[in-house]
Amino acid sequence: MSRMVHTASSRHARAVLVMLMIIAADFAEEQRAIYLVLVEGDPVAFCEDAAHHKDGKRTDPNSEASKFHAKHLVDSHNQILGSTLELGSYNKLYSFKHIVNGFAVHTTPSQAKKLKSAQGVKLVEKDRGAKLMTTYSPQYLGLPVGVWTKGGGGDHNGGEGVVIGIIDTGIDPRHPSFAYDPMKPFTLSNNSRFMSGGCEVGPQFPRGSCNGKIVSARYFSAGAQAVASLNASVDFLSPFDAVGHGSHVASTAAGNSGVPVVMNGFLYGMASGMAPRAGIAVYKAIYPTVATLADVVSAIDQATQDGVDILTLSIGPDEPPEDTISFLSVFEIFMLFAQRAGTFVIQAAGNHGPEPSSVVSFSPWAVGVAACRTDRRFPGSLILGNGTRVKGIGLSGPTFGKGLFQFKLVLAKDAVKINGSFPRTPEYVEECQHPEALNPVVVQGSIVICTFSAGFYNQTSTVTAIIDTAKALGFMGFAFVANPTYGDFLAQPIPFSVPGIMIPKIADVQILSEYYEQHTQRRQGRAIYKGRASIGEGRVASFHGRAPIVSRFSARGPNIVDANRNLADILKPDVLALGDQVWAAWSPISILDPILEGNTFALLSGTSMAAPHVSGIAALIKQYNPSWTPSIIASAISTTASKYDNFGEIILAEGSQVASVYPSTPFDFGAGLINPTLALDPGLVFSSDFKEYISFLCSFPDINATTIKSMTGASCNNTYAYPTDLNVPSITISALSGSRLVRRTVKNVERKPETYSCSVLQPEGVEVYVYPSTFRITPESTQDLQIKLKVTKVLDSFSFGQIVFTGSLNHIVRIHLSVLPVSVL
Ligand SMILES: *[C@@H]1O[C@H](CO)[C@@H](O)[C@H](O)[C@H]1NC(C)=O
Ligand SMILES: *[C@@H]1O[C@H](CO)[C@@H](O)[C@H](O)[C@H]1NC(C)=O
Ligand SMILES: *[C@@H]1O[C@H](CO)[C@@H](O)[C@H](O)[C@H]1NC(C)=O
Ligand SMILES: *[C@@H]1O[C@H](CO)[C@@H](O)[C@H](O)[C@H]1NC(C)=O
Ligand SMILES: *[C@@H]1O[C@H](CO)[C@@H](O)[C@H](O)[C@H]1NC(C)=O
Ligand SMILES: *[C@@H]1O[C@H](CO)[C@@H](O)[C@H](O)[C@H]1NC(C)=O
Ligand SMILES: *[C@@H]1O[C@H](CO)[C@@H](O)[C@H](O)[C@H]1NC(C)=O
Repeated sequence: MSRMVHTASSRHARAVLVMLMIIAADFAEEQRAIYLVLVEGDPVAFCEDAAHHKDGKRTDPNSEASKFHAKHLVDSHNQILGSTLELGSYNKLYSFKHIVNGFAVHTTPSQAKKLKSAQGVKLVEKDRGAKLMTTYSPQYLGLPVGVWTKGGGGDHNGGEGVVIGIIDTGIDPRHPSFAYDPMKPFTLSNNSRFMSGGCEVGPQFPRGSCNGKIVSARYFSAGAQAVASLNASVDFLSPFDAVGHGSHVASTAAGNSGVPVVMNGFLYGMASGMAPRAGIAVYKAIYPTVATLADVVSAIDQATQDGVDILTLSIGPDEPPEDTISFLSVFEIFMLFAQRAGTFVIQAAGNHGPEPSSVVSFSPWAVGVAACRTDRRFPGSLILGNGTRVKGIGLSGPTFGKGLFQFKLVLAKDAVKINGSFPRTPEYVEECQHPEALNPVVVQGSIVICTFSAGFYNQTSTVTAIIDTAKALGFMGFAFVANPTYGDFLAQPIPFSVPGIMIPKIADVQILSEYYEQHTQRRQGRAIYKGRASIGEGRVASFHGRAPIVSRFSARGPNIVDANRNLADILKPDVLALGDQVWAAWSPISILDPILEGNTFALLSGTSMAAPHVSGIAALIKQYNPSWTPSIIASAISTTASKYDNFGEIILAEGSQVASVYPSTPFDFGAGLINPTLALDPGLVFSSDFKEYISFLCSFPDINATTIKSMTGASCNNTYAYPTDLNVPSITISALSGSRLVRRTVKNVERKPETYSCSVLQPEGVEVYVYPSTFRITPESTQDLQIKLKVTKVLDSFSFGQIVFTGSLNHIVRIHLSVLPVSVL
């Protein structure tokens, strides 16, 4: 440019400069964002012509041919960017080359628009960001729920030889759940797809962190760094987990067995992952400050290249894509190709339940997991001076004397300093957020009642602050109670480091209030406290009542095909697993949840917690049946799941009202509660692979063949009559007129021939016939089935049924029918 200034007339030079400045100003004014771009041409893993297949089935990413091809793709990405966009207007973040050919670029909307019409570009999608699928942050109230991971996990060898990849907030390598015993080295199954990981070191993640249990660890931060300025004291640029979430998910799937769960000196029990001998490959893509889909999909690309057997996504986009088909967003496409490469992909179904169609797991090539709670409760109690016990929640020890001694009961409002110079807001007066507001002489050694009010309502007040106040002023204990103005609140057990209890139901609070008022006299602004109370042991679990119950937050079907909420005839969620109050590993630094700081375990709730239960079980299945493909494993888990609870009734689901429940349907629980033991030996399986997924996509009237070709590279030359013909272990029809013939194919994965007979639980308003209704099937062979569904009565909502295949060797194979009969003809 300086040469230009010299050679041009000064006037011309000024014009050039002004123009450059205007362009620069334009870039500055327009808000940059990340765009995910898919490009024509085969990625490395699916490149037809390169003869670089190891064992005849997998592409070796380290071969010369693969490296050459990868370099060629990167060059082509740079070429597209360089020839389409203004210099200085963009920053390429990633080239994707293994399972998808494309890139992520940080640029302005106007530049992104240019990319859309650039030669070779198939799709440009704005990064929607990514979210953790955990619902209640312990920092607020409603935390988690869940479940003790013991029991499900098989033996001590569960998952040996299998590698589970986890895309999340990283991992705490010092946690005992991830310790490695060199005396008991893992062997990698020669059927595992895992080839080679990497071990990226950095802050809090020193060399040696990949210890053999953690087989690989990487982090992806280009997207996060492009959209936010990261804070080095929270957003560690290493695989280290400063949040706790990634460690929680990893330990649920594959944490070591028999790890003691100790908090505040109390032993809650022993923790174990579902597949305690599986290897863990860590892909950190979520940061406390920000999370982008660019980092997440880059992690999917790398995990697939590394060859993880199972990939767990307890994260995902928060909302359906705005302007694309649900199945064809960039995120879904990466999962499709990961599945095509042989990786079993499991995702959290989402936490926006119980609204209908709230699932954010859409595609048949990934398993979407719904969450439920068990019958475990942690009952807490406040024992009043007259002997009455008020029920509550809180993982805390009892007050001094284990509940035998009673202490002065003081309502915070009555103990507020008369002439203190602090604002008379609810935070100071009622919520115990500020120690300077309370009269220390009155509250010391007392049980102080702190009340839910505007600060909690606005989520600015925290239970942590109550505990800090309690410690600062020497409360004997605290009771955090609901307020009639706001109604009941949702509370989940949190470990308290001082005796405390939450009383979230107004009806329970009323007993306490009445007792307190009867025993408190107020004179000239001073109160005389005659009420007494103690707090009982709250850390011991009890098991009673119906279980499982689908959690309120767990996202519901029916599945949708686009942002207009048109229904998709594919069942979501897929299956139900424990995801409510799950104990698992935590990172003591606990950046986002100060109340859990210093803890090495946490109880959390969310479909995030349910997904890794399925991952661990998938690892067990893969260990016993190493040749099974992802869709065979998915089928085995689904057809052996149960829709019944421990009372033998249909599983209940929590509704939108506090404490309301209703009998659930496949739109709440998918195939039902997973049963690891049965899933090892399902008898028959329904499987589909890439070609079938293409036929499925092609059969949607609203999805255009050109779009499918450009997104997946595949042609629509074998279109199903209806999407319902995809060979999945369920049948879902959102508008059935007259009758429809649905096709399925089952395969016998048992080592012996078996004769099956089929029975149908007819959905209301629909007659179902299965041909043939009995058949004999030899090992490894398949049987085609025709299933005719005929409307007999029009209904205005879905009705549900089941087809059950009972085998002569006692296999029972179930598939759910969900049908909306709209007309008889
Ligand atoms: C696969 O593992 C088995 C033992 O589990 C071993 O006998 C066999 O030789 C291995 N095959 C290959 C190709 O390494
Ligand atoms: C970075 O995080 C630390 C710890 O949370 C905080 O104290 C500090 O203010 C943050 N810095 C910035 C620039 O946000
Ligand atoms: C106000 O507070 C101060 C210090 O806490 C105390 O000395 C004083 O007596 C109080 N005044 C009244 C009117 O209570
Ligand atoms: C907090 O919530 C109350 C409702 O109780 C509302 O009136 C108030 O404006 C909110 N305050 C803030 C600071 O958001
Ligand atoms: C204790 O007091 C509460 C509040 O008045 C009352 O509801 C309860 O019945 C009393 N319990 C006993 C045993 O008297
Ligand atoms: C399919 O979509 C493409 C791009 O949106 C469009 O150009 C084409 O006309 C469509 N084809 C049909 C048959 O609708
Ligand atoms: C579809 O047709 C193309 C070209 O004719 C062929 O290469 C491809 O294998 C076919 N796909 C399927 C699924 O039959």
